[in-house]
Amino acid sequence: MLDLHHPDSDVLPAWEAGAHIDLILPNGLVRQYSLCSTPEDRRSWRVAVLREPDGRGGSTFIHDELPLGSTVRVRGPRNHFPLVPAPRYVFIAGGIGITPLIPMMTAASSAGADWQLIYGGRSLTSMAFVEQLVAEHGHRVAVHPQDTCGLLNLDALLGGPDGLPDGTLVYCCGPGPLIDAVEQRCTGLLHVERFAPGDAGEPVLHGSFEVQVASTGQTLTVSPDESVLEVLRCNGIGIDAACEEGTCGTCETRVLDGQIDHRDFVLTAAEREQNALMMVCVSRAACPRVILDL
Ligand code: FES
Repeated sequence: MLDLHHPDSDVLPAWEAGAHIDLILPNGLVRQYSLCSTPEDRRSWRVAVLREPDGRGGSTFIHDELPLGSTVRVRGPRNHFPLVPAPRYVFIAGGIGITPLIPMMTAASSAGADWQLIYGGRSLTSMAFVEQLVAEHGHRVAVHPQDTCGLLNLDALLGGPDGLPDGTLVYCCGPGPLIDAVEQRCTGLLHVERFAPGDAGEPVLHGSFEVQVASTGQTLTVSPDESVLEVLRCNGIGIDAACEEGTCGTCETRVLDGQIDHRDFVLTAAEREQNALMMVCVSRAACPRVILDL
């Protein structure tokens, strides 16, 4: 658990349930973590960092080389997983995917909404926050450690395709296969946050396309083996980016004209249709030229 405080002032920027921050680590790695404290506490932010020895190095650095009292740069908070008001929610967490859901459950309770949590993980000892969740929310929390309960039986838990009462929204965060399985059962009701990219499918265009920079009129060509982000950076246009795989939202850029082949895992279906934003690290053009608000 990492508790972060502002080095100079008491107050940190405001955030809402579902938000995450980028930790810019002293070794240059940038990692995203969901805030799992309460938005009302403006004096500290809490994130949970699961140590992943076989990961890409961010979590082991935090566990092994970031002593208490260290200073880290933080970007954000940003929220691509907001809690939409509803009378009823089902929260589904896999492993460390519990973190963004924790403030959501508190917010849902405060709003008087009905909700339940389905929380799966490898084993009880590997599942963070179980005691706290059961103590705070009791019967609303169903814990399913895989070693004793097997895989989540989503058909039974969700009651089939028509099993959820009208007005229920489903929020899911966890490993890709869990999200894919929930997606198959809850189309239209579902809000997800992925920690790793899913399958974006074939691009709409297989050839090159052009990107125009609105502020200068500069037109750049993006070939099939380059990302928009790479081309912008190669041409001296600095864009913040963290995951570079379409899951964090850091590189979000406004689109002024053109159709986008959305290949990220951040924007909702409605946001994709609006075509006003693109994640330039992975998304591409679905037309010969797009104009970006840069
Ligand atoms: Fe994370 Fe683009 S850098 S979505």
